[in-house]
Amino acid sequence: MSKKTLAMLTLAAGTALGTNAALAAGELNLICSADVVICEQMKGDFEKSHDIQVNMVRLSSGETYAKVRAESRNPKTDIWWAGTGDPHLQAASEGLTEEYKSAKLDELHDWAKSQAESSGYRTVGVYAGALGWGYNTDIAAKKNLSEPKCWADLLKPELKGEIQIANPNSSGTAYTALATLVQIMGEDEAFDYLKKLNDNVSQYTKSGSAPVKAAARGETGLGIVFMHDAVSQVAEGFPVKVEAPCEGTGYEIGSMSIIKGARNMDNAKIWYDWALQPDVQSRMKDAKSFQLPSNKSAEIPKEAPRFENIKLIDYDFTTYGNPDKRKALLERWDREIGSIAN
Ligand code: F6P
Repeated sequence: MSKKTLAMLTLAAGTALGTNAALAAGELNLICSADVVICEQMKGDFEKSHDIQVNMVRLSSGETYAKVRAESRNPKTDIWWAGTGDPHLQAASEGLTEEYKSAKLDELHDWAKSQAESSGYRTVGVYAGALGWGYNTDIAAKKNLSEPKCWADLLKPELKGEIQIANPNSSGTAYTALATLVQIMGEDEAFDYLKKLNDNVSQYTKSGSAPVKAAARGETGLGIVFMHDAVSQVAEGFPVKVEAPCEGTGYEIGSMSIIKGARNMDNAKIWYDWALQPDVQSRMKDAKSFQLPSNKSAEIPKEAPRFENIKLIDYDFTTYGNPDKRKALLERWDREIGSIAN
């Protein structure tokens, strides 16, 4: 049998089986740290426009960071797309991610570019979003709860057992919340606050957006999450109100990094350039992902919470994106909060 006939038969078999594997020029091992719906959409769109099969796993930001560290001698991941910027910066400063200057960098907003510059081009911003919460308006009305507008309101006894937030070890959202409270209040006061908040917390979830999904379905009253994740629940038709804390709040620069020693390095760079394109970022809203895109020409979804309407703190990415700071804060959280968690 000639090589050409064999190739045609292989192609036909692949098509008949409905797999892309036989057709793919190569593979890409991706960890996606955003919501599973946008992760699936990104994988599908990329595979449609490239001859590359994407093997995708969805993990929260802190889980991904731990996996990338654990596999550093023998990386199984090529690219890490999305998730909060702090763990991407922590991985960058430990040399776990590859330096890469995309030709697309000049098309990005300053906040996304500065993420790249400050990490020696080992990560880059793909979107941004502010921290806040979403609460179930039906539960609030039924229990006659006052509107929770400030961090201080979340300590009210009327919210006992009604709050969920993620665990900052696994979740980038919850790490952002921890770092935000430390920056607003000071570290000791923030831990005092978290101890009091614990009285009202029914569950520390693994993923960052789970608390507001639970609130939307009436399983809890309120979820501390990125505001865009609360907006997604509103867009799904759930009775959720989105709040930005009155004292001020932190934000994420959702990021992307190529793993050092990636087996499919060329394909990782192809994904990286592709994911910074305006048309790709403009499509995120179709998966009800309402972050602010990093490419200046990408469409900002009308649902996206706009930074100009939120009291934002000057979040210190250098300090809270440092691996030693992460370790110290998480050890203290485990000792003082994790140990008393319900
Ligand atoms: O659901 C989307 C999202 O909030 C992103 O904006 C963010 O980067 C990511 O999830 C954080 O997820 P986690 O808290 O589970 O690490």
